[in-house]
Amino acid sequence: MEEKKKVMLSGIKPSGDLTLGSYLGAIKNWAERADKYDCFYFMADLHAITVRQNPADLRRWTLAQIAQYIACGLDPKKNTIFIQSHVPEHAELGWVLNCYTMFGELSRMTQFKDKSAKNADNINGGLFTYPALMAADILLYQADYVPVGEDQKQHVEICRDIANRFNGVYGDVFKVPEPYIPKVGARVMSLTNPTAKMSKSENEDTGRVCLMDRPEDIMRMFKRAITDSGSEVRFDPENKPGVSNLMQIYSSATGKSFETIEREFAGQGYGGFKLAVGEAVVEMLRPIREESERLLADKAYLQSVYREGAEKASAVAARTIRKVYKKVGFIER
Ligand code: TRP
Repeated sequence: MEEKKKVMLSGIKPSGDLTLGSYLGAIKNWAERADKYDCFYFMADLHAITVRQNPADLRRWTLAQIAQYIACGLDPKKNTIFIQSHVPEHAELGWVLNCYTMFGELSRMTQFKDKSAKNADNINGGLFTYPALMAADILLYQADYVPVGEDQKQHVEICRDIANRFNGVYGDVFKVPEPYIPKVGARVMSLTNPTAKMSKSENEDTGRVCLMDRPEDIMRMFKRAITDSGSEVRFDPENKPGVSNLMQIYSSATGKSFETIEREFAGQGYGGFKLAVGEAVVEMLRPIREESERLLADKAYLQSVYREGAEKASAVAARTIRKVYKKVGFIER
């Protein structure tokens, strides 16, 4: 008998273009995961509106992200790709879990504190209860693993606390998930500030390359990339963070080792090296950009993907919500 695969789930807020950093650091390795895990990926539009969004942008980003993930190799036949608001059980379980999440716990969340500081004119209830909705996202699918970055670990932690609290009262309703730390992808830093991570929405940083950027823009960004004093292409993140970051990117794009790269550019200075990295990135991203554009133009196809995804997701989510409603004492309709 075929063994049941473990469930993996991740949400992505549709709030910006995907970057070279998220591609090399994570997404690139997602395609092959589907063989081992039952994977759910959803566009977290309910979470996105905890900060004010322009409706047209939100619509555009949501579709663009689906297209970009598929273009990066996520196969919609092998993975469940859907839009959070299409599966109403997220909001439903989110409400129930709100009632099992404490004011004190929510007040201690670092993301809430950070975002309240940044959006002082819009510290809304949704921003505060964000972790309860995220717990619902995860627990609805009885997920075993949640791949997250450092900044989201606390949210998985509170999800576990909520699940254990609920299970403690009602018996084993939820699988208690674990954070999943993927085997190391490249850690790509900003091209203009190589000691900070290349991030998608934080700042309109010129050091950020997006998957949809045009080749001439990518080349311009690499030509302007910050390097270090000296002129030697050598991997030394401590003393040469700029050059080391470029080497990391070049190595991921071409598969060449650091030693090979050092030999290739020995005695050539930084100028030629930066051009070579830019060109390698352009060639690596070209098929992804072209495929994303092709998919984005095919609205009927995208629609079939997110509809099928929502259907598959709903089947699982409905089972969990039925169980939860019964446990807490709601009358079946
Ligand atoms: N909070 C996550 C982020 O900002 C997005 C997210 C929403 C998520 N629901 C999730 C991630 C469930 C993992 C699992 O990146």
